[in-house]
Amino acid sequence: MQAADIIARKRDGEELTTEEINWFIQGVTEDALPDYQIAAWLMAVYIRGMSRRETLDLAQAMAHSGAMLDLSGVVDFAVDKHSSGGVGDKTTLVVLPLVVACGVPVGKMSGRGLGFSGGTLDKMESIPGFRAELTTQEFLDQLAKCGIVLSGQSADLAPADGKLYALRDVTATVGSLPLIATSIMSKKLAAGADAIVLDVKAGSGAFMSSVDEARRLAGLMLDIGRMAGRKMVALISDMSQPLGRAVGNALEVQEAIETLHGGGPGDLVEHCLVTTGHMLRLAGVGESLDALMPAMRAKLQNGAAFAAFRTLVQAQGGDAAAVDDPDDLPRAGVVKAIPAPRRGYIAQMDARAVGDASMLLGAGRRRKGDPVDHAVGVVLHAKVGDYVEAGQPLFTVHANDLDRLAEAERRLMDAPAWHEEPVKAPPLFYDVLEVV
Ligand code: URA
Repeated sequence: MQAADIIARKRDGEELTTEEINWFIQGVTEDALPDYQIAAWLMAVYIRGMSRRETLDLAQAMAHSGAMLDLSGVVDFAVDKHSSGGVGDKTTLVVLPLVVACGVPVGKMSGRGLGFSGGTLDKMESIPGFRAELTTQEFLDQLAKCGIVLSGQSADLAPADGKLYALRDVTATVGSLPLIATSIMSKKLAAGADAIVLDVKAGSGAFMSSVDEARRLAGLMLDIGRMAGRKMVALISDMSQPLGRAVGNALEVQEAIETLHGGGPGDLVEHCLVTTGHMLRLAGVGESLDALMPAMRAKLQNGAAFAAFRTLVQAQGGDAAAVDDPDDLPRAGVVKAIPAPRRGYIAQMDARAVGDASMLLGAGRRRKGDPVDHAVGVVLHAKVGDYVEAGQPLFTVHANDLDRLAEAERRLMDAPAWHEEPVKAPPLFYDVLEVV
């Protein structure tokens, strides 16, 4: 086979065969194809799309490009979750310990933030000493010993995705449904979970801006999971405004800890309970989400979920004192309240503007590999539907650099939209799709 022929066929809108897709992905994995041919192929896929059959073939080929973890020797049933990414999304920090406190072990591979969208590993690394990069063996050992582990993607899982993603990032080919679905699902399939809950976000702070697009992405990922025999649920959730109130690494850890102690913002608590409930249900615990609610709430109130979080932190070298007393987490040098410029109801709190502001402060990275400042970020004092008086604090900005603070302040002023009349908050979830 010739790479140029495969590129040409996709460029002309033809359907690639299974053999062609396998051959191409093998070439990517073994460094047998130059970046310019891979990039041309990615652009052809971006423009022409892929049939359902091609998408399933691509997911399988990418998943099998490296090791396929087998967790059956370690736990009876492995359950995983994946969020498509957003602003203020610290759910993994609450959901993992809560699932464990309810009796189901979890080993999860997470990612880092890019652009306006935060990453779980960056958040966890704001806990002094926490080691997010584990080898596959360390991952399996900790899962067997503690029943809870959270680490970066190991290099030997779905290596084809690592190469494709790096090229997509610099060739304007990230936003393609088959490329996103296969990127996420190849890693999930290789990581070995029997059941997966996907949290597919829709809104300005997500990859998918509309609910319909998010539904289409979720449908493709469910198809891939079904083909691989995995139990799956996809939640379509709102990301038009940030989740919870804190945006920025240590600030989000602090909010997650409040939630694990039975407090925390209502939307975050609800989101975590629903996600946890679906994970437990897939693992065979509980009849229904409603039936599980009292037990899950009790694990937040009675310290069991926080204890599981503490176990996770200590097992990976983190300083337990910093989670016992979050005042020991990194703190920014400048903390400034931004007052509301007028009175009225908040009609919108644009997640993208808040995410951008947090990135401008240094909480996120413009390019892969940039360092992040764990201390900085934004705390929201009002969300959609709230009434605010002029001069009341709208945001608190945590900064370590005055120029960046000024830039972030300007961007934050784009976030709110105002209304004279009461406004309804958007729903937390738009839909729940399930593979049965
Ligand atoms: N997350 C991924 O892992 N891949 C994508 O393409 C988008 C989000």
